[in-house]
Formats: sequence, structure tokens, C-alpha cells
Amino acid sequence: MSAFSRFTPLANALPSTVPFVGPEAIERQRGLQVKARIGANESGFGPAPSVLAAMREHAGDIWKYNDPENYELKEALAAHLGVGAANIAIGGGIDELLGQIVRLVIEPGAPVVTSLGGYPTFNFHVVGFGGRLVTVPYVGDRENLDGLLDAVRRENAPLVYFANPDNPMGSWWDADSIVSFARALPDTTLLILDEAYSETGPLGSLPPIGTLIDLPNIVRTRTFSKAYGLAGARIGYVVSTPGTALAFDKIRNHFGMNRLATAAALAALRDQPYLTEVIGRIQSARDRISGIAKANGLIALPSATNFVAVDAGRDGTFARAIVDGLMQHGVFIRMPGVAPLNRCVRVSVGPEADMALLEQALPLVLKSLG
Ligand SMILES: Cc1ncc(COP(=O)(O)O)c(C=O)c1O
Repeated sequence: MSAFSRFTPLANALPSTVPFVGPEAIERQRGLQVKARIGANESGFGPAPSVLAAMREHAGDIWKYNDPENYELKEALAAHLGVGAANIAIGGGIDELLGQIVRLVIEPGAPVVTSLGGYPTFNFHVVGFGGRLVTVPYVGDRENLDGLLDAVRRENAPLVYFANPDNPMGSWWDADSIVSFARALPDTTLLILDEAYSETGPLGSLPPIGTLIDLPNIVRTRTFSKAYGLAGARIGYVVSTPGTALAFDKIRNHFGMNRLATAAALAALRDQPYLTEVIGRIQSARDRISGIAKANGLIALPSATNFVAVDAGRDGTFARAIVDGLMQHGVFIRMPGVAPLNRCVRVSVGPEADMALLEQALPLVLKSLG
């Protein structure tokens, strides 16, 4: 295939991959229809009716660029979290913010520490900016805090990534362990504390926002994609010190935020009763998935997220066969990418109709696999 001849050496060295194969791509490639979309950790419960109403109300304003300073959303988030607006940077989902953080911190060849099998989009950005990934295996299906700290020190790494609660296992650490970890890091290492699932964890798993707010080397990333049900709107944010948050203004796409998405986020923040209701539904659906797993002789791991990792008891090939088999029945799920995590399949929570489809299809798939 002919391509432009003066792409950078880094760009030329990168594979043209999409880290996640989306359900739409699977439908196209396999000629199948997704009936239960429970693989991408979206929220099938959807956003609040008040959010949809706000988006409709603001639809006529779509000819206007959005406020490039994201003033209103920063103010609303600041009030919600009890921090200053200057502590916040806004972006098109955590995924975009991860790219910006890597761009701010990583020069080609620099070591970047993360967990082996952790959130892959982070790795995608690290490789894309020429960083060198240093991975630390999970221990007991949790990210290994001591191991991450050792790797940071050994490599003198400027950047470390850690998700709490974690994807793909749904596991978590208590707030005290995370605060100790964060405080033990050298101040020359930036910690990305990815809290995409901050709303769904048990009490005591989330360090209070004030605990780490004075540390310029900690950025906490959060999103409206999960419990708020706005994955397609692409809104995430960073909480850090004012100085660190301001650095995003040097590189971000200033008109990148969608006006309707911003209206949606503002409305979502106002509708906390809906969030509470959804969190209850997420918890019930987690129990429902655990029950389905158990009824089929599989073990669901405890989860602090909007998905459940189900231990299928064998290897990655077997788990892959379950994922593929379920898709034949229109049930879209995913699985972790590396051993030993890939003995599991990962099922996102969803409304009862989706859970019922899983309940019907799973025994048929397991039977066909023998
Ligand atoms: C740990 C983690 N971080 C970030 C994201 C992506 O969040 P966003 O939709 O805000 O880009 C996900 C989505 O699955 C995730 O699991």
C-alpha cells in the first residue's frame, strides 16, 4: 500500500491497530447481530431522563463552538467534588486525557510502569509517544502496588499508571493502601490514578479527594462514561494541583469538547438521585451475573466496577471460546488479554433483558465446548 514517505520514524514503526475491536466491527466481520451489549463496560441503564432532556434542549445551539475554557463544567465539578475549579482539566474521556498525560511526560525511550494486562488504551498511548512499557504482573488478581513501586524506583520512571477499581479484573485496593502508595512514590514520578469506576466501588476504596490534592505528581482521572451512562458523549476529567492541571492547556484541543456532551455532563451532575438509583441497579446486576456464573459451575470474582470477571477455570483458549460462543448467540462480552487473567471472561452489567440472554446462552455455549 502506498503511503506518504515522510511520516516520522516513530509513526512508521507503529502498527496500525485499533486496540479494541468494537461490537459494531464484530457484527460487520462475523455477520452477527449484538442482542446483549455487555462487553464494553458501558451502562445499558443509560443516562438520566433529565440528561436526555438537557441534550434535546441544547440541540439547537449546536452551531456554536463550545466554551474552550469549559468554565461551567469545571465549576460544577469543583462544587461537586469540593475542590477548586483550577484543580480540574477536562477532556474527551479518560482515553484522550491519558494520551495528553503521556505527551506531557514522556520522551522517546522513557520507561513507563503499568500492570501486565492492565487497561490497554494507556499502553497504546505510551507506545504512540515512544515510551517504553515496563509491566508488573498482577498478584491475586489485583494490581501489585509494591511491585509497581519497586519498578518505578528501579527504572527511575517518570510515569506510572494504576486503576482503582481495576479493569479488567474488577478488583480494588482500600483507600489507605492507595494513599501510602501515592505518597511513597518519588516526586519525580507522575501517578495516573485512574478512577473510571469511582462511583461503583465499596465504601473505603476511594481516597477522599482532599487526601491527594496537594501532590503535583498525582493526577486522578474520572469519567462520565460508566455509572453516568454517557460513554458515547466522551467526557472525562483530571483532578490534580492547579499547576499540573494547567499544563493540559498547553497541548489540549481547545475546541475538542462537544457542546451537547457538556450539557449532558452538567445535567448528569445535577441529577444525583438518578446516579444513586443506577448504582443500586449496577450492584444488583453484578449479583445477577455472579448467580448465572455459579449456576454454570463458574466463579465470579468480587467486583467494584460495572462488570464482573468470571473465572472460567481453564486457560485463555477456553475463555476465548466462551466469548466467541456467546457472540454466536448475540451476547457480546470481552475477556482479559494476558495470562493468568485470561482464564476469565469479563461481563458488563446491563438491564434484565441482557442478563436473561446471558443466562440462556451460557449453558448452551459451555455444553457445546464440553
Ligand atoms: C480503567 C479505565 N479507564 C478509562 C476508561 C475509558 O474511559 P473514557 O470512556 O472516559 O475514555 C475505561 C473504559 O473502559 C476503563 O476501564
